[in-house]
Amino acid sequence: MRRLCDETDARRLLNPGPVAIVTTSWRAGTNAAPIAWTAPLSMNPPLVGCVIHPHRHTADMIRFSEEFAINIPGPRLLKQTHFLGTQSGLNVNKLEAAGLELFRAQRTEPPLIEGCLAWIECGLQDVIAIGDHTMFVGRVVGVQALEEAYAQHWLLESPEFSPLTYIGGTRYAVIGSPREAVIEVDTLGALVTETAEEREEREEREAREREFREAEGLDEIE
Ligand SMILES: Cc1cc2nc3c(=O)[nH]c(=O)nc-3n(C[C@H](O)[C@H](O)[C@H](O)COP(=O)(O)O)c2cc1C
Repeated sequence: MRRLCDETDARRLLNPGPVAIVTTSWRAGTNAAPIAWTAPLSMNPPLVGCVIHPHRHTADMIRFSEEFAINIPGPRLLKQTHFLGTQSGLNVNKLEAAGLELFRAQRTEPPLIEGCLAWIECGLQDVIAIGDHTMFVGRVVGVQALEEAYAQHWLLESPEFSPLTYIGGTRYAVIGSPREAVIEVDTLGALVTETAEEREEREEREAREREFREAEGLDEIE
């Protein structure tokens, strides 16, 4: 059955990217907020976008300082990540309240969060009003990642070193179960959805399941 959804469900259906904790700094103050709406925008120059509501303190901090950093947490920082999204940093030092350890970025002022899996430092390239949000376009000036987590792509070898994704409300998931897409086409150029090897594996699996059901007498019960 297909379920009819609300127009606003589009945002959650498109939500599977890693959650970013955006850190900012302006004069003596620092701030951090989780942002789910992020996007790579350009390779050369390297640009990324963060879509942020103009009421957020983070939006003001980026406008004033013209810099921001993206910190990508794993499941170890689940509680801290959510906590940072529950209040404004206007009157509270959320980074301190969350007990997060920080370290200096390579090329920008906003602090980076210890315990994250990867970090992207950005200078502000552009600010674009989009509907009720604002897209802050960052020019990437520095990138670091944990060796256990990333080597040209997310490794996803263990949940501890895999990024968190935001589902909505208080729900998150750990990105995982990597798969290799092996594409084969037939003589007419149509996709072969099951290779000979995959068909053999499936038939063997089905035969094993049939044997098990017969041995257990499960078919008769149903
Ligand atoms: C997991 C998560 C993802 C969020 N994603 C966004 C987002 O993409 N854009 C946005 O404007 N707010 C987003 N929010 C809300 C802000 O993080 C929240 O309003 C935060 O308190 C803002 O803090 P600030 O006022 O200190 O910037 C998200 C919240 C959570 C918990």
